[in-house]
Amino acid sequence: MDLISLLSFNAVTVTVVVILLVLLVSRSLQWPANVPPGPVGYPVVGCMPMFRNGNLLEIFRKLRVQYGDVYSVKIGISLTVVISGVDALKEAFIKHADDFSDRSRASVTGNLFKHRGIGFSSGEYWKHTRTFALSTLRNFGFGRKTLESKVQEEITAYLDVIEEQKGSPYDMKEMTVMAISNIICSITFGNRLDYTNAKFKKITSLFAENFRLNSLGGAAQALPCLRHLPGDMFHLKKLIQNSKDIRDFVIEQIKEHRNSFDEENQRDFIDAFLSQQNKDGEEDTIFEDLNLAVSVINLFVAGTDTTATMIRWAIIYLIHNKDIQDKLRLEIEIVVGTSRLPSLADKSSMPYYEAFITEVFRMGNIAPLSVPHGALKDIHFRGMVIPKGSLIIPNLDSVMTDPDLFEDPDKFDPERFLGEDGQMNGKERNVMAFSLGRRICIGESLARMELFLFLTSLLQRFRFLPENPDKLPSTESILGLVRVSKDYRCRAVKLI
Ligand code: HEM
Repeated sequence: MDLISLLSFNAVTVTVVVILLVLLVSRSLQWPANVPPGPVGYPVVGCMPMFRNGNLLEIFRKLRVQYGDVYSVKIGISLTVVISGVDALKEAFIKHADDFSDRSRASVTGNLFKHRGIGFSSGEYWKHTRTFALSTLRNFGFGRKTLESKVQEEITAYLDVIEEQKGSPYDMKEMTVMAISNIICSITFGNRLDYTNAKFKKITSLFAENFRLNSLGGAAQALPCLRHLPGDMFHLKKLIQNSKDIRDFVIEQIKEHRNSFDEENQRDFIDAFLSQQNKDGEEDTIFEDLNLAVSVINLFVAGTDTTATMIRWAIIYLIHNKDIQDKLRLEIEIVVGTSRLPSLADKSSMPYYEAFITEVFRMGNIAPLSVPHGALKDIHFRGMVIPKGSLIIPNLDSVMTDPDLFEDPDKFDPERFLGEDGQMNGKERNVMAFSLGRRICIGESLARMELFLFLTSLLQRFRFLPENPDKLPSTESILGLVRVSKDYRCRAVKLI
C-alpha cells in the first residue's frame, strides 16, 4: 500500500470511528430515565466488552437474578431488552402482542432484504405476507398426506446413504441438512435436488455459516455502519455476501418458474405467489418480486438448519442414553413393526416418542433467545419504557432451564413429561421451542412432522453407537442464531 492510499485508508477509519462515537453518545442521552434496569456498562461501548468471551446464556441468567424478568443491556447505540420467565414472556408477547410483534429496523440482514419477506418485515405488510405464506404452505402440504409421502421418499434416499457407510464412523451433518432442505425445496420450488448437486451443497452450507456469523457479528448488528470499516473483523461482509449468494440462487429459481408458469397447474409456493401477482391490480401490494424472493429465502433458511440441528441433538442424546434408545425402538416395533416406514397415523400411539422429542426440544434448546423482536415505537410495559429502536429478546432459555418448571433441568429425562398412565402430563406446554405469540414459528407443524418421520425411521433401521466406546459425542454447544452441537461422528449399525 503506498503512502497516499495508507493516509486515505486511515482517514476513512478515523472518520467512521468519530461519527460512531458522536452517534453513540447522543443516542444514549436520549433514553428515558425509566428504561428497564440493567448493568451500567462503559461509556460509548456500553456492555459490549461483557459479552466478548463469556457464555451469553450464562450471563443472561446471572443478569436475570440481579435485575429481574425484564432488564436492559446497552450495546453500542442500541438498547437491548431481555424478557425472561413464563409470566413476563406471556404478558409481553401474547397480552401486549400489538406492541411486541415487530422486528427491529437495525438488523443487517433485514436491511439487506429491505424488511420484506416473513421473517424481517413488520406491521400490516408482515401480517399479510405471513397469512399468505401460512395458507399457501397448508395448500401445498402442511399436515397433508401428499407431503408425508414426499418426506418418506426423502427419508428412503437419506437412509440409503447412511446404510452405505456400513456402520463405520460417519458425520451425518451434511446429509441431514440436505435431506431436510430438500423438503422445503419441494414445497417452494416443486422438486428435490440431488445430494451430489454441487450448487445445492454450497447453498446449504451457506445457511449454516450465516446462522453462525449472525451471532458472531451480533454486537456489530447493532452498529451496521461497522461494515464500512476496512477488513471484516465482525464478519458482516461475509454475512452479506453469503446472503447475496443465497438470494441469487432463489432468484434463478423464480425466473425459471416465471418462464414455465401455468395458472391451471400451480406446482408450488412460487407459482402460488406468481398467480396472485398476475391477479393483483392494487398498487399497495405485498405481491412484489422482492417479497417473493425474501419469503422463499426465509422458508428455505429457517426451515433447514433448525430441524437438521434438532436431529443431530436427538442422536447425541440417543447415544448417551442406551436405555432410552431401546425403549423408543420397542415402541416402534410394537406400533409400526419392521415391514413399512413409520407414518403420521402412528404418532398418537407413541407417547414415549412424544416425551423423548419434547425433552430434545428442551435440552437441545436450539433457539434459546428466539429471533430478536424490535420496538418500532416507545413501549410502556410493567411501569417501564422500552424506547423506540430497542431490540427485544424473548429469553426462551429462561423457561427451558427453569428448575421450578423442570426438576433437575440439566438431566436428560423424557419421563418428566409422562404421567402415571404413560401419556403426556401437560408439562410439555412450557417447552416453548417455537417461541410464542403472533410471531410464533410458522414451520412448527412441518418441523414436528419431519422430526417424527425422520427419527422413528432412523431408529427403526439403525442402532446408534459412539465413534468408539470411550468417545461419546460432546453435549456442549456452540451458540449462533441457532444453538448447535459440536461436530461429531457416530456409527449407525443396521438392524433390519
Ligand atoms: C425444530 C425446528 C424449528 C424451530 C425450533 C424453530 C424455531 C423458531 C423460532 C424460535 C422462531 C422465532 C419466533 C419469534 O420471532 O419469536 C421462528 C421463526 C420462523 N420460523 Fe421456525 N423453527 C423451526 C423450524 C422451521 C421450519 C421447518 C420452517 C419452514 C417452514 C420455519 C420457518 C420460520 C419462519 C418463516 C419464521 C419467521 C416467522 C415470523 O417472523 O413471523 N421454522 N422459528
